Amino acid sequence: MRRLVAELERLGLAEFLADFPGDSVDRLQWAAGLRGLDGPLRTVAGFLLLGEAVREDLLPPALAEAVPALVEGGVAARGGDGVQLVDVSLFRSSGVWLFAEPPSPFPVRHYFGRDSIALARRTGYRDGAPVLDLCSGPGFQGLVAARRGLTATLVELLPGTAGVARLNAQVNGLADRIEVLVGDLYDPLPSDVEPYGHVVANIPFLPTLSARGEEAAHEGGEDGFSVGRRVLAGLPRHLAPGGTAHLTALLLQTGDGLAAGGELRDWAARHGYGLTVTLTDRLAVDADSDLVQTTVSDHLDSDPQADPAELTAAAADMYARRGATAARLAYLRIDDGMAGFRVLDRAHG
Ligand SMILES: C[S@@+](CC[C@H](N)C(=O)[O-])C[C@H]1O[C@@H](n2cnc3c(N)ncnc32)[C@H](O)[C@@H]1O
Repeated sequence: MRRLVAELERLGLAEFLADFPGDSVDRLQWAAGLRGLDGPLRTVAGFLLLGEAVREDLLPPALAEAVPALVEGGVAARGGDGVQLVDVSLFRSSGVWLFAEPPSPFPVRHYFGRDSIALARRTGYRDGAPVLDLCSGPGFQGLVAARRGLTATLVELLPGTAGVARLNAQVNGLADRIEVLVGDLYDPLPSDVEPYGHVVANIPFLPTLSARGEEAAHEGGEDGFSVGRRVLAGLPRHLAPGGTAHLTALLLQTGDGLAAGGELRDWAARHGYGLTVTLTDRLAVDADSDLVQTTVSDHLDSDPQADPAELTAAAADMYARRGATAARLAYLRIDDGMAGFRVLDRAHG
């Protein structure tokens, strides 16, 4: 598998991907960039980026050799037209190659998005202390840490996605520094586990209507922060003295600030943590907004008999009851031993 990355780089795939701004996660941009290309780079890019079916004997040797592992790992399937990736593409960011699904308005199993890249950019990983990557998905955060020489424990709820994280560790030649556990947040860790110097968690935060009961793996509960709250609750036990944690979150904004502002400030003060909340994208929360409509269509996926108009009213009401004027994509940085709470608002306009 190690030969795979070397061969892809020699063929020019890293060069090709490097020319898209912000580590593009956009198949349309790739397709446009591939116009006019031919030869092995076109074949490999069509297969790995665009999801085209290709005859195995036309693939370069190291990629053809990797096909059985890709099929076994659930990211490729053989059919009449040859072999083809299933849902995923091969991304490259921070020097890490990653089989994952491109962003979609629908729930995906092996997530990778602009928030994944933005979260990884925030991490320092300066000392050699081990990393805990909660909600690892296909493994990007843990792989970035391992590529910087650290060991990382990854925890993912979905067994199939945890398998893709293991595959990605092999592709990058980092399997000896990566352990992937399946389960809910801190649950799969041994009870006597040593605390980690770094904890990173790109949590699911799509707000969900409580009427349905149990949350799916991509959902964040009524206000979008239920998984985040549970990550924070476990940090005092799992973050080493002097350690740092990074989380994503979707936080509701009211006329007075953040709906969860007081809760976050109190939590940080109680544990002697410094907490920096950086607010980025601003999402509307009215009945016509993308966020409310995504919440509704997500609910309808598992409850097709529900009335869309009632669901829309319930979702909009959830925001109204909390006095929310917007939802903000946020990044939380937590520093042990550095008391203080601050909010940095980076939205323009
Ligand atoms: C937004 S994706 C993040 C993927 C990856 N960490 C990244 O930054 O690209 C969230 C992932 O968390 C997983 N997940 C959801 N709830 C979880 C839980 N309670 N414990 C562990 N993983 C969970 C989902 O299956 C999904 O793969």
